[in-house]
Amino acid sequence: EKGGWDSYMDKEIHEEPLAVSDTLLGRFSVDGDLNLDEVRIDEDVFRSIDKIVVIACGSASYAGLVAKYAIEHWVRIPVEIELAHEFRYRDPILTPRTLVVAISQSGETMDTLMALRHAREQGSRVLAICNTQGSTIPRESDAVLYTHAGPEIAVASTKAFVAQIVAAYLLGLYLAQVKGTMYRDEIRQIVDNLKAMPEKIQWVLDNQADVIAQTADRMAKAHSFLFLGRHVGYPVAMEGALKLKEIAYTFSEGFAAGELKHGPIALVDEGEPVVVIVPSPRGRDVLHNKVISSIEEVKARGAFTIAVAEVGDPDVEHYADVIFWRPECSTLLSPLTDVVPLQLFAMDMAKLKHYDIDKPRNLAKSVTVE
Ligand code: BG6
Repeated sequence: EKGGWDSYMDKEIHEEPLAVSDTLLGRFSVDGDLNLDEVRIDEDVFRSIDKIVVIACGSASYAGLVAKYAIEHWVRIPVEIELAHEFRYRDPILTPRTLVVAISQSGETMDTLMALRHAREQGSRVLAICNTQGSTIPRESDAVLYTHAGPEIAVASTKAFVAQIVAAYLLGLYLAQVKGTMYRDEIRQIVDNLKAMPEKIQWVLDNQADVIAQTADRMAKAHSFLFLGRHVGYPVAMEGALKLKEIAYTFSEGFAAGELKHGPIALVDEGEPVVVIVPSPRGRDVLHNKVISSIEEVKARGAFTIAVAEVGDPDVEHYADVIFWRPECSTLLSPLTDVVPLQLFAMDMAKLKHYDIDKPRNLAKSVTVE
């Protein structure tokens, strides 16, 4: 069933181009308007939404954090991300104008389900972004947007994660459409750019596997990893670190690159591997330049630097020891390509250690207890 792949994770990473294109499929009417799957919410209610609260656990929460950058930019309403188990046991501020978005691959995560019920009791509408048709979370939600990633077997989420970002972006564009915060042409442009992403992910899979495997070889004995990113690169850094923890059992932490000088740089010692997600160099804007300086700073303290960067970046080569390249794309869409080398890297590290890639110790695919 693994279709010739060594592991389900390997297979599922290679299905990411398809997961993205399938999640985009059939969402648009002939006039280009976006559609959700199951909606028990009036368009007027969507129009009145003034805040989004994303509830999720693990990788799904990082997908939500990526979407925050896009949705706030497109829809101009605040988007908060909260771990479902934290949200549930405090007194969150919810109103009928709050849209709670529950993101879950399995649709059965108890922490997320309990948070969803709590939100509905407070009178908020809940929209589920889910990969499993008919599971509990979508059944109990007011609206559903399915990720069409196909069944995900490996415990560590890969293709579901990229599909969650796509679905959350579609929700953002849908809200921009009903609220009129963007021109139709702008929405179409972004949709077209999204449709070009499967090919870009495929490029990474086809062209970067060797350098990633060689880097894993070099790093096999490393005890810990730091991951740095800014803007959408920050949740990507956290997701990259999570993959390494989950399947390679290697201590790793993702940080916002701007936090470096406020603490994490004290961890950097001779040979410490630091993975940096570099934003697009176009215009060499502040975001790009600041991340390049972060690489410089850790390099000056002896770090072994691994960058994920856009093909043709003229600055990164001066500072990075190794580069995982990705094709050109807009900053907001870059998480869809940038997470891919990090998933492959974690998988290669786990392979070297002969760990069970699909069933890491102590973890379950779907955690149905609180
Ligand atoms: C964890 C899984 O226990 O639950 C993660 O190991 C997953 O891979 C998280 O991201 C959330 O699961 P779900 O099904 O709600 O997306």
